Amino acid sequence: MRIDFAKLQYQYQLYKEEIDQAIHNVLDKSNYIMGEEVKELEENLQNFTGTKHAITCSSGTDALLLAMMALDIKPDDEIITTPFTFIATAETIAFLGAKPVFVDIDEKSYNIDVSKIEEKITEKTKAIIAVSLYGQPSDIEALEQLKIKHPKLKIIIDGAQSFGSTFKGKTDSNLGDISTTSFFPAKPLGCFGDGGALFTNSDELAGKIKMLRVHGQSKRYHHKYIGMGGRMDTIQCAVVNVKLKHYEKDLALRQEVAVKYSEELRVKSEELVLPFVDERATSAWAQYSIRVQNRDEVQARLKEKGIPTAVHYPMPLHLQECFSYLGYKKGDFPIAERVSNEIMSLPMNPYLSDEEISYICSNL
Ligand SMILES: Cc1ncc(COP(=O)(O)O)c(C=O)c1O
Repeated sequence: MRIDFAKLQYQYQLYKEEIDQAIHNVLDKSNYIMGEEVKELEENLQNFTGTKHAITCSSGTDALLLAMMALDIKPDDEIITTPFTFIATAETIAFLGAKPVFVDIDEKSYNIDVSKIEEKITEKTKAIIAVSLYGQPSDIEALEQLKIKHPKLKIIIDGAQSFGSTFKGKTDSNLGDISTTSFFPAKPLGCFGDGGALFTNSDELAGKIKMLRVHGQSKRYHHKYIGMGGRMDTIQCAVVNVKLKHYEKDLALRQEVAVKYSEELRVKSEELVLPFVDERATSAWAQYSIRVQNRDEVQARLKEKGIPTAVHYPMPLHLQECFSYLGYKKGDFPIAERVSNEIMSLPMNPYLSDEEISYICSNL
């Protein structure tokens, strides 16, 4: 058997007619930049998430940049975040000249350990970026408590992997001052290239983000802020409009796949660490990631059996060369370091059959 990790071609075939039609509508109108499909998607995203404002943009990375620009993050500001995430979370902080300050992760959820944040807060701390890793939101309740004690602190949720997840019944896009997501093709809700979105319930922030996305422009050729070219293409919005119609079902199917994996793998749980989902949360299951001691060997053996795996992420950010100037060293964040040595993602998509799941689990 050969297993497809994300089944992107399968998904396209499933919705081909609708997607082709949506793309052709854009081609016929040639409204490639900020066409009506963009507004349509933003309204659809608002309805889906229950947020007051959804603003599309060019990628999940640019969504983080726009979020911090909207919050006026300046050189020398400090932003607290997790070292166990995709580079974009911390890279964008550094890109704006601010300083990423890392805090170790929780051993079960792999998200930032909120109980360790307070000791890192200084006068320069402006915001916290909490990443909803593998699809599951961080402990938002604890973050909200922290915000009561430190009301000036802003909270950004990097929801690149978690569109549609919830915490205490609210979608992840509703949490924090600004929440972001990515429509990178392999994300739970992906487009056919790059795309992303920001969510906020603040009229003021939404207005500013919309300007920042188009070169800080308040009206044509009048620039209130230093902004960027950060729009999402109309064609990509048209694709997501179609996929969003089916997304509730996709999320439910991902949940079913995760449950089946966990049921089959529970018997091996002495050798494996299975994913943990907080009872207050639901995950969008961007990844189903387990921990094994002998990862290289397991990956090689699975590959021989036609089972692809991936590692998200093999090196925590505090040990990355590009952040050596921050002065962190091995041993600073022992949990992130241990998890990055052991973590391994299994094929995950809404369309994995029972047979495929059993094949993966029995070979594992
Ligand atoms: C946690 C996290 N943040 C940010 C990003 C960046 O998103 P994009 O690839 O759309 O720029 C990703 C995408 O891989 C991600 O996983």
